[in-house]
Amino acid sequence: MSISPESFAFVADLVRRRSAIQLTPGKEYLVESRLLPLARTAGLDLDAYVTRLRTVGAPADQAAVIEAMTTNETSWFRDGAPYAALRGTELPRLVAARGGTGRLRVWSAACSTGQEPYSIAMSLLDDLPAAMTSEIIATDLSEQVLERARSGRYSQLEVNRGMPAAMLVRHMVRAGTEWELSAAVRHLVSFRAHNLLDAPPAGPFDIVFLRNVLIYFDLPTKRAILDRVLRVLRPDGVLLLGAAESTLGVHEGYERVTVERSSVYRPLAARGLPAPATLPSPRPAGFGHPSTPSPLPVPAAHALSRGAAR
Ligand SMILES: C[S@@+](CC[C@H](N)C(=O)[O-])C[C@H]1O[C@@H](n2cnc3c(N)ncnc32)[C@H](O)[C@@H]1O
Repeated sequence: MSISPESFAFVADLVRRRSAIQLTPGKEYLVESRLLPLARTAGLDLDAYVTRLRTVGAPADQAAVIEAMTTNETSWFRDGAPYAALRGTELPRLVAARGGTGRLRVWSAACSTGQEPYSIAMSLLDDLPAAMTSEIIATDLSEQVLERARSGRYSQLEVNRGMPAAMLVRHMVRAGTEWELSAAVRHLVSFRAHNLLDAPPAGPFDIVFLRNVLIYFDLPTKRAILDRVLRVLRPDGVLLLGAAESTLGVHEGYERVTVERSSVYRPLAARGLPAPATLPSPRPAGFGHPSTPSPLPVPAAHALSRGAAR
Protein backbone atom coordinates (compact mmCIF):
# COMPACT_ATOMS: atom_id res chain seq x y z
CA MET A 1 0.00 0.00 0.00
CA SER A 2 1.57 3.32 -1.00
CA ILE A 3 1.39 6.51 1.01
CA SER A 4 0.09 9.75 -0.56
CA PRO A 5 2.56 12.65 -1.00
CA GLU A 6 0.57 14.72 1.55
CA SER A 7 0.66 11.97 4.16
CA PHE A 8 4.39 11.40 3.58
CA ALA A 9 5.10 15.14 3.91
CA PHE A 10 3.12 15.28 7.17
CA VAL A 11 4.93 12.28 8.69
CA ALA A 12 8.34 13.50 7.55
CA ASP A 13 7.71 16.91 9.13
CA LEU A 14 6.43 15.41 12.41
CA VAL A 15 9.39 13.04 12.69
CA ARG A 16 11.91 15.78 11.85
CA ARG A 17 10.48 18.20 14.41
CA ARG A 18 10.29 15.63 17.18
CA SER A 19 13.42 13.53 16.63
CA ALA A 20 15.48 15.35 13.95
CA ILE A 21 15.46 12.14 11.88
CA GLN A 22 15.42 13.16 8.21
CA LEU A 23 12.93 11.39 5.96
CA THR A 24 13.92 12.73 2.56
CA PRO A 25 11.97 12.05 -0.65
CA GLY A 26 12.63 8.45 -1.65
CA LYS A 27 12.05 7.21 1.91
CA GLU A 28 8.34 6.62 1.27
CA TYR A 29 8.94 2.86 1.34
CA LEU A 30 10.40 3.15 4.85
CA VAL A 31 7.43 5.11 6.16
CA GLU A 32 5.04 2.64 4.53
CA SER A 33 6.73 -0.44 5.98
CA ARG A 34 7.10 1.05 9.47
CA LEU A 35 3.62 2.60 9.77
CA LEU A 36 1.55 -0.11 8.12
CA PRO A 37 1.54 -2.34 11.24
CA LEU A 38 0.32 0.65 13.33
CA ALA A 39 -2.41 1.44 10.79
CA ARG A 40 -3.51 -2.20 10.68
CA THR A 41 -3.69 -2.37 14.48
CA ALA A 42 -5.92 0.72 14.38
CA GLY A 43 -8.07 -0.94 11.70
CA LEU A 44 -7.26 1.78 9.15
CA ASP A 45 -5.43 2.05 5.85
CA LEU A 46 -2.21 4.07 5.82
CA ASP A 47 -3.62 7.39 4.62
CA ALA A 48 -6.62 7.16 6.95
CA TYR A 49 -4.21 6.51 9.84
CA VAL A 50 -2.13 9.58 8.92
CA THR A 51 -5.32 11.65 8.52
CA ARG A 52 -6.33 10.65 12.04
CA LEU A 53 -2.85 11.63 13.20
CA ARG A 54 -3.23 15.05 11.54
CA THR A 55 -6.72 15.79 12.75
CA VAL A 56 -6.87 14.17 16.19
CA GLY A 57 -3.11 14.21 16.87
CA ALA A 58 -3.32 12.02 19.97
CA PRO A 59 0.05 12.19 21.79
CA ALA A 60 0.20 8.39 22.09
CA ASP A 61 -0.27 8.00 18.31
CA GLN A 62 2.39 10.60 17.60
CA ALA A 63 4.80 8.89 19.99
CA ALA A 64 4.11 5.53 18.33
CA VAL A 65 4.93 7.01 14.92
CA ILE A 66 8.20 8.53 16.12
CA GLU A 67 9.19 5.24 17.77
CA ALA A 68 8.31 3.30 14.63
CA MET A 69 10.54 5.55 12.53
CA THR A 70 13.65 5.02 14.68
CA THR A 71 16.18 2.44 13.48
CA ASN A 72 17.41 0.43 16.44
CA GLU A 73 20.07 -1.74 14.81
CA THR A 74 22.84 -2.57 17.30
CA SER A 75 25.13 -5.38 18.45
CA TRP A 76 27.63 -6.28 21.18
CA PHE A 77 31.03 -4.58 20.92
CA ARG A 78 29.82 -3.16 17.61
CA ASP A 79 32.58 -2.78 15.00
CA GLY A 80 35.24 -4.09 17.41
CA ALA A 81 37.80 -1.32 16.83
CA PRO A 82 36.15 1.36 19.04
CA TYR A 83 36.22 -1.07 21.97
CA ALA A 84 39.83 -1.94 21.21
CA ALA A 85 40.56 1.81 21.31
CA LEU A 86 38.65 2.17 24.57
CA ARG A 87 40.40 -0.71 26.29
CA GLY A 88 43.82 -0.42 24.68
CA THR A 89 44.37 3.33 24.90
CA GLU A 90 41.60 5.52 26.28
CA LEU A 91 40.82 3.70 29.54
CA PRO A 92 44.51 3.31 30.50
CA ARG A 93 45.03 7.01 29.68
CA LEU A 94 42.08 8.12 31.82
CA VAL A 95 42.96 5.76 34.68
CA ALA A 96 46.51 7.16 34.73
CA ALA A 97 45.19 10.74 34.60
CA ARG A 98 42.95 10.04 37.63
CA GLY A 99 45.79 8.39 39.56
CA GLY A 100 43.95 5.04 39.56
CA THR A 101 41.20 6.24 41.90
CA GLY A 102 37.83 7.97 41.78
CA ARG A 103 34.85 7.43 39.50
CA LEU A 104 34.65 7.30 35.70
CA ARG A 105 31.39 8.54 34.20
CA VAL A 106 30.20 7.38 30.79
CA TRP A 107 27.26 8.53 28.65
CA SER A 108 25.97 6.05 26.07
CA ALA A 109 23.72 8.32 24.00
CA ALA A 110 21.17 6.66 21.67
CA CYS A 111 21.87 3.30 23.31
CA SER A 112 19.07 1.33 21.60
CA THR A 113 18.37 -2.05 23.27
CA GLY A 114 21.39 -1.84 25.57
CA GLN A 115 24.12 -3.87 23.88
CA GLU A 116 26.34 -0.76 23.70
CA PRO A 117 26.23 0.35 27.38
CA TYR A 118 26.44 -3.24 28.58
CA SER A 119 29.49 -3.85 26.35
CA ILE A 120 31.08 -0.77 27.91
CA ALA A 121 30.15 -2.02 31.40
CA MET A 122 31.85 -5.38 30.76
CA SER A 123 34.97 -3.57 29.55
CA LEU A 124 35.05 -1.37 32.67
CA LEU A 125 34.50 -4.31 35.01
CA ASP A 126 37.36 -6.21 33.40
CA ASP A 127 39.81 -3.30 33.08
CA LEU A 128 39.38 -0.74 35.84
CA PRO A 129 41.61 -0.98 38.90
CA ALA A 130 39.85 -2.07 42.09
CA ALA A 131 40.15 1.43 43.57
CA MET A 132 38.06 2.94 40.76
CA THR A 133 34.29 2.92 40.35
CA SER A 134 32.21 3.77 37.32
CA GLU A 135 28.75 4.77 36.20
CA ILE A 136 27.12 4.54 32.77
CA ILE A 137 24.12 6.71 31.89
CA ALA A 138 22.42 5.14 28.87
CA THR A 139 19.78 7.14 27.01
CA ASP A 140 17.50 6.80 24.00
CA LEU A 141 14.46 8.50 22.54
CA SER A 142 12.52 5.25 22.30
CA GLU A 143 10.75 3.94 25.39
CA GLN A 144 10.36 0.56 23.72
CA VAL A 145 14.08 -0.04 23.31
CA LEU A 146 14.76 1.24 26.83
CA GLU A 147 12.29 -1.26 28.24
CA ARG A 148 14.08 -4.07 26.40
CA ALA A 149 17.45 -2.77 27.60
CA ARG A 150 16.34 -2.58 31.24
CA SER A 151 15.27 -6.23 31.15
CA GLY A 152 18.94 -7.19 30.77
CA ARG A 153 17.86 -10.34 28.90
CA TYR A 154 18.76 -11.34 25.37
CA SER A 155 17.92 -14.21 23.02
CA GLN A 156 20.58 -16.60 21.74
CA LEU A 157 20.28 -14.91 18.35
CA GLU A 158 21.01 -11.50 19.89
CA VAL A 159 23.93 -12.87 21.92
CA ASN A 160 25.38 -14.40 18.75
CA ARG A 161 25.72 -10.89 17.30
CA GLY A 162 29.14 -9.93 18.57
CA MET A 163 29.39 -11.30 22.11
CA PRO A 164 32.85 -12.87 22.60
CA ALA A 165 32.70 -16.31 24.28
CA ALA A 166 34.95 -15.21 27.15
CA MET A 167 32.68 -12.22 27.92
CA LEU A 168 29.60 -14.42 27.75
CA VAL A 169 31.05 -16.82 30.30
CA ARG A 170 32.17 -14.02 32.62
CA HIS A 171 29.19 -11.69 32.44
CA MET A 172 26.03 -13.61 31.46
CA VAL A 173 24.05 -16.55 32.79
CA ARG A 174 21.46 -18.79 31.18
CA ALA A 175 17.85 -17.89 31.97
CA GLY A 176 15.63 -20.47 30.28
CA THR A 177 16.05 -20.02 26.54
CA GLU A 178 17.61 -16.58 27.05
CA TRP A 179 20.78 -15.10 28.51
CA GLU A 180 20.77 -12.68 31.43
CA LEU A 181 23.43 -10.14 32.34
CA SER A 182 25.13 -10.50 35.72
CA ALA A 183 24.03 -8.18 38.50
CA ALA A 184 27.47 -6.55 38.45
CA VAL A 185 27.04 -5.48 34.81
CA ARG A 186 23.45 -4.35 35.27
CA HIS A 187 24.25 -2.27 38.35
CA LEU A 188 26.71 -0.14 36.40
CA VAL A 189 24.12 1.03 33.86
CA SER A 190 21.09 3.26 34.39
CA PHE A 191 18.68 3.85 31.51
CA ARG A 192 16.73 7.08 30.93
CA ALA A 193 14.56 8.50 28.17
CA HIS A 194 16.35 11.38 26.51
CA ASN A 195 16.01 13.17 23.20
CA LEU A 196 19.29 14.40 21.71
CA LEU A 197 17.47 17.62 20.78
CA ASP A 198 17.19 18.40 24.50
CA ALA A 199 19.76 19.50 27.07
CA PRO A 200 22.11 16.59 27.85
CA PRO A 201 22.27 14.64 31.12
CA ALA A 202 24.24 16.43 33.81
CA GLY A 203 27.98 16.08 33.23
CA PRO A 204 30.83 15.97 33.39
CA PHE A 205 31.51 12.70 31.55
CA ASP A 206 34.88 11.07 30.95
CA ILE A 207 33.64 9.06 27.96
CA VAL A 208 30.73 9.61 25.57
CA PHE A 209 29.55 7.00 23.09
CA LEU A 210 27.39 8.68 20.41
CA ARG A 211 27.45 6.00 17.78
CA ASN A 212 25.39 5.45 14.65
CA VAL A 213 22.82 8.13 15.32
CA LEU A 214 24.27 11.38 13.88
CA ILE A 215 23.90 9.77 10.43
CA TYR A 216 20.14 10.36 10.65
CA PHE A 217 20.41 14.12 11.24
CA ASP A 218 21.11 17.21 9.11
CA LEU A 219 24.31 19.24 9.49
CA PRO A 220 23.02 21.97 11.87
CA THR A 221 21.53 19.29 14.15
CA LYS A 222 24.77 17.27 14.20
CA ARG A 223 26.67 20.44 15.01
CA ALA A 224 24.32 21.44 17.84
CA ILE A 225 24.45 17.94 19.37
CA LEU A 226 28.26 17.80 19.16
CA ASP A 227 28.35 21.19 20.82
CA ARG A 228 26.20 20.03 23.71
CA VAL A 229 28.33 16.90 24.09
CA LEU A 230 31.46 19.03 24.23
CA ARG A 231 29.99 20.99 27.11
CA VAL A 232 29.51 17.86 29.25
CA LEU A 233 32.75 16.11 28.25
CA ARG A 234 35.76 16.52 30.55
CA PRO A 235 38.66 18.42 28.94
CA ASP A 236 40.65 15.16 28.82
CA GLY A 237 37.62 13.00 28.01
CA VAL A 238 36.90 11.14 24.79
CA LEU A 239 34.02 10.88 22.32
CA LEU A 240 33.44 7.76 20.22
CA LEU A 241 31.34 8.02 17.05
CA GLY A 242 30.11 5.46 14.53
CA ALA A 243 32.35 4.32 11.67
CA ALA A 244 30.46 6.52 9.17
CA GLU A 245 30.48 9.56 11.46
CA SER A 246 33.04 12.27 12.20
CA THR A 247 33.34 15.70 13.76
CA LEU A 248 35.41 16.85 10.77
CA GLY A 249 33.57 19.51 8.83
CA VAL A 250 30.85 19.52 11.48
CA HIS A 251 32.34 20.88 14.71
CA GLU A 252 35.80 22.34 15.17
CA GLY A 253 35.96 21.78 18.94
CA TYR A 254 37.34 18.22 18.65
CA GLU A 255 40.62 16.66 17.64
CA ARG A 256 40.45 13.37 15.75
CA VAL A 257 43.03 10.87 16.96
CA THR A 258 43.63 7.44 15.43
CA VAL A 259 44.08 4.70 18.01
CA GLU A 260 43.87 0.93 17.53
CA ARG A 261 42.62 1.33 13.92
CA SER A 262 39.75 3.50 15.16
CA SER A 263 39.15 7.25 15.29
CA VAL A 264 38.40 8.78 18.65
CA TYR A 265 37.63 12.44 19.30
CA ARG A 266 39.15 14.47 22.10
CA PRO A 267 38.12 18.02 23.06
CA LEU A 268 40.37 20.78 21.82
CA ALA A 269 41.14 23.73 24.08
CA ALA A 270 38.34 26.28 24.51
CA ARG A 271 39.59 28.27 21.50
CA GLY A 272 37.74 25.77 19.30
CA LEU A 273 34.37 26.40 20.88
CA PRO A 274 31.95 28.59 18.96
CA ALA A 275 29.84 31.04 20.94
CA PRO A 276 26.69 29.26 22.17
CA ALA A 277 24.44 31.89 20.59
CA THR A 278 25.50 30.78 17.09
CA LEU A 279 24.01 27.31 17.54
CA PRO A 280 20.40 26.13 17.78
CA SER A 281 19.38 25.89 21.44
CA PRO A 282 18.06 22.74 23.03
CA ARG A 283 14.28 22.65 22.66
CA PRO A 284 12.20 24.07 25.47
CA ALA A 285 10.77 21.63 28.02
CA GLY A 286 7.51 20.01 27.02
CA PHE A 287 8.21 20.16 23.28
CA GLY A 288 9.50 16.65 23.00
CA HIS A 289 8.42 13.07 22.85
CA PRO A 290 5.22 12.81 24.89
CA SER A 291 6.75 10.06 26.95
CA THR A 292 10.01 11.93 27.43
CA PRO A 293 10.26 13.65 30.80
CA SER A 294 11.41 17.24 30.99
CA PRO A 295 15.00 17.69 29.90
CA LEU A 296 17.51 16.35 32.36
CA PRO A 297 19.30 18.97 34.47
CA VAL A 298 21.53 21.25 32.46
CA PRO A 299 25.12 20.88 33.63
CA ALA A 300 26.68 23.70 35.55
CA ALA A 301 28.49 26.12 33.24
CA HIS A 302 31.39 23.88 32.49
CA ALA A 303 32.86 23.98 29.10
CA LEU A 304 33.45 27.52 28.01
CA SER A 305 35.78 28.32 30.85
CA ARG A 306 37.50 24.99 30.99
CA GLY A 307 40.40 25.93 28.75
CA ALA A 308 41.79 27.74 31.78
CA ALA A 309 41.46 24.59 33.88
CA ARG A 310 43.48 22.40 31.58
C1 LIG B 1 21.13 2.64 14.99
S1 LIG B 1 20.78 2.82 16.71
C2 LIG B 1 22.40 2.96 17.39
C3 LIG B 1 22.54 2.16 18.66
C4 LIG B 1 23.96 2.13 19.24
N1 LIG B 1 24.43 3.45 19.56
C5 LIG B 1 24.92 1.44 18.30
O1 LIG B 1 25.77 2.09 17.71
O2 LIG B 1 24.81 0.21 18.15
C6 LIG B 1 20.17 4.51 16.73
C7 LIG B 1 19.38 4.86 17.98
O3 LIG B 1 19.20 6.27 18.02
C8 LIG B 1 17.96 6.55 18.62
N2 LIG B 1 17.56 7.92 18.27
C9 LIG B 1 17.15 8.41 17.07
N3 LIG B 1 16.87 9.71 17.15
C10 LIG B 1 17.12 10.09 18.44
C11 LIG B 1 17.03 11.31 19.14
N4 LIG B 1 16.61 12.43 18.56
N5 LIG B 1 17.36 11.32 20.45
C12 LIG B 1 17.78 10.20 21.08
N6 LIG B 1 17.89 9.00 20.45
C13 LIG B 1 17.56 8.95 19.15
C14 LIG B 1 17.03 5.47 18.08
O4 LIG B 1 15.91 5.27 18.91
C15 LIG B 1 17.98 4.25 18.03
O5 LIG B 1 17.82 3.42 19.14
